[in-house]
Amino acid sequence: MDGLLKGKIAIITGAGSGLGRAAALIFARHGATVVATDIGEASVAETVKLVEAEGNRASAHICNVADEAAMDALVAEVAKTHGRLDIIFNNAGITVMPAPGGLRGLLDTPTSEFDRIQAVNIGGVLNGSRAAIRQFTAQGADEKGVSGVIVNTASVAGMIGYGGVAYGATKGAVVNMTRTLALEVAHLGIRVNSVCPAGMLTHYAGLDPDGPNADKIREGMKRNNPLGHDGNPDDTANAALFLASDLASNITGVNLPVDGGLSAGIVMVKR
Ligand SMILES: NC(=O)c1ccc[n+]([C@@H]2O[C@H](COP(=O)([O-])OP(=O)(O)OC[C@H]3O[C@@H](n4cnc5c(N)ncnc54)[C@H](O)[C@@H]3O)[C@@H](O)[C@H]2O)c1
Repeated sequence: MDGLLKGKIAIITGAGSGLGRAAALIFARHGATVVATDIGEASVAETVKLVEAEGNRASAHICNVADEAAMDALVAEVAKTHGRLDIIFNNAGITVMPAPGGLRGLLDTPTSEFDRIQAVNIGGVLNGSRAAIRQFTAQGADEKGVSGVIVNTASVAGMIGYGGVAYGATKGAVVNMTRTLALEVAHLGIRVNSVCPAGMLTHYAGLDPDGPNADKIREGMKRNNPLGHDGNPDDTANAALFLASDLASNITGVNLPVDGGLSAGIVMVKR
């Protein structure tokens, strides 16, 4: 199915790598003009190069989502250049770097580290949403009553105990911000949903999808995924595409797991 985002202007944060890059490619294939943003200048430029190599449209912008003024300036620039903003995918996120042999627990996570993660994972969603809602409200609704769409990247770690306390706390916050904000802005014609991936093999937490251990990590991800998927970010980017598109026009306040069923519960029957 093509053209789900035909003519739409879409900001994607954290677009220089992993899920953000996958979403940039997929949104653009579906007709969006992608405003790809990241703190990594070279990586976001590479994303735009990849989008353009497929004959699609994107531009690269440096923006730290934890910086409210920078996020406001980005949205203002997009409105000036394109006349409107249709979609913001608040995707940028970070985690505590793992300790050798496993994830870092609470006792090994100083408050300064928690503050750093919170500023990006929670602050970034708040800053992106606030700036976008101002623009959506100013431009008003289209003929279908839609002013704009927000998609956040939360995580399975926001739904079940998974992936470290400090990180899980921030993603749990994104899950509930998604619900609360959805109710707050529904009457304005704005939908707010999130995607909640389980493990994806990206550059996250110091991983390397092209590194020597990549196959081993993919095998581990397959084992943890009841459907046997291997952590390819395209699965989650496709879910974000759906939520950003008119196919989801009656869906808001939803946190959509993209985890092969991992968060559905525990298998009790014999297999
Ligand atoms: N990879 C996983 O296993 C996994 C699982 C669940 C959820 N997530 C979430 O998915 C999202 C994307 O992660 P990913 O796996 O693609 O990771 P990634 O590290 O490959 O990509 C994240 C991108 O965000 C950018 N970024 C970091 N801080 C930023 C900031 N302050 N402002 C703007 N950009 C910033 C990075 O430069 C990077 O390009 C994150 O929100 C993450 O929490 C990841």
